[in-house]
Amino acid sequence: MENFDFQSASEIVIFGALGDLSRRKLLPALYQLDLAGLLNPESHIVGVARQEHTIEEFEAFVMENLTSFVKEGLDSDIIERFKSRLVYQNLDFKEIDSYKNLADTLSSGHDTRVYYFSTPPAIYGDIGSGLNAANLITPNDRVVMEKPIGHCLESSKVINDHVSKYFDEKQIYRIDHYLGKETVLNLLVLRFANSLFTNNWDRNCIDHVQITVAESVGIEGRWGFYDEAGQMRDMIQNHLLQILSLLAMEPPADLGADSIRDEKLKVIRALVPITRQNVKEKTVRGQYADGFLNGVAVPGYLNEEGANENSNTETFVAVKAEIDNWRWKGVPFYLRTGKRMPAKHSEIVIHFKEQPHNIFSDSYADLPSNKLTIRLQPDEGVELQMMNKIPGIASQMKIHENKLDLSFSKTYKNTRVVDAYERLMLEVINGNQSLFVRRDEVEAAWTWADGIIEAWKESNEAPKSYPAGSWGPVSSISLIARDDRQWVE
Ligand code: BG6
Repeated sequence: MENFDFQSASEIVIFGALGDLSRRKLLPALYQLDLAGLLNPESHIVGVARQEHTIEEFEAFVMENLTSFVKEGLDSDIIERFKSRLVYQNLDFKEIDSYKNLADTLSSGHDTRVYYFSTPPAIYGDIGSGLNAANLITPNDRVVMEKPIGHCLESSKVINDHVSKYFDEKQIYRIDHYLGKETVLNLLVLRFANSLFTNNWDRNCIDHVQITVAESVGIEGRWGFYDEAGQMRDMIQNHLLQILSLLAMEPPADLGADSIRDEKLKVIRALVPITRQNVKEKTVRGQYADGFLNGVAVPGYLNEEGANENSNTETFVAVKAEIDNWRWKGVPFYLRTGKRMPAKHSEIVIHFKEQPHNIFSDSYADLPSNKLTIRLQPDEGVELQMMNKIPGIASQMKIHENKLDLSFSKTYKNTRVVDAYERLMLEVINGNQSLFVRRDEVEAAWTWADGIIEAWKESNEAPKSYPAGSWGPVSSISLIARDDRQWVE
């Protein structure tokens, strides 16, 4: 246990501890930190939820989920240590008086607490009020808020206003788990630790960028929740815009939280608004219909369990995003994300400009441009597509397209890819906000996303249908084909 930081938070309180996120992600992440010796020896993990449970029942719940979701590293000694850290408190989140019970349960004299709000955002404010009323907030404490923060700009302001009555912005950690992914973090290294990309990362050298985040899963038992959101609020407003802003931002002065967030914010603010006039040309909304995935029939969105068959909610979005600034004017960023696509597959492809003149036309009529592919998941890695001479003595030079492939699994053999929540949890515990989203970023992202949602509403068109197991509606192909380009499949 030699790695932990003595300044780190010593009590982690999870509101919504019995929920899906806690089971699948938060508890396994904390276990991995414990295994790596990164938790303070005195740390407690306090599960808070509505249901009454004895500590033994909570321990059994935690063990069951660690067994299901920790893929490697279950160790009986560490499990015992982890169990000894667990505490459980049932609580009616909306009942101010019940927070006194929580105060009795939490250890006194702690240095710093992390309050993790893994509940519906609508009750973040109630939890803040309850903690405040029970005198449970000190200036060192931190609060983690899960997305989505609101449903639109206005509702996000209400939630943020409520929480900021009790916590200063420096104490608030808004999670976007994509910022904790190895490959998303690697964007910073790729861009700012390689001089190769210093002078060609702009409109002079880059033709366009494609960002695809495809999932093969459907709605997985959360139809009601998802239907209120749709893919624009669930994925584009946050994950895809965060990726885009890291890709497009100016070099920050350092890795400080505000240095990075200031630069990301400028990009989001420079996104060209999409309006009723151009929404058809610049966006596609889709909804999956019955189809097949890996040869197995799967139901369409409207035939999923709990579905309302009149829903117009989108499960797929493609957008041509443009950034109005000196670096990116005229370079489209095509974003595409959807549920029930053929595979879980997320990647960024940077298409460099074509050579101005082809001296190899005898062997290659249309020289393809270089492409830099950043594979976010699975098979994380970076790949550069380049032209190469085929070895041989023939008088006419033969060339072909080949790739330099930096696959993480081949390059860093035996290195486990850390889950995003492990890294982010550690950053909160250690008090580093760089990988968390600042309020103004959330608001700028809502402003842009709200414009599109509003334009969709005004145009009153149903989403385009696509069969489950396909790459989305045909019109998403036209969206990019209109610009004489095509999606990389
Ligand atoms: C979540 C969305 O934020 O991200 C889910 O709410 C989505 O709908 C998930 O499935 C995707 O995350 P990942 O890490 O599996 O790509």
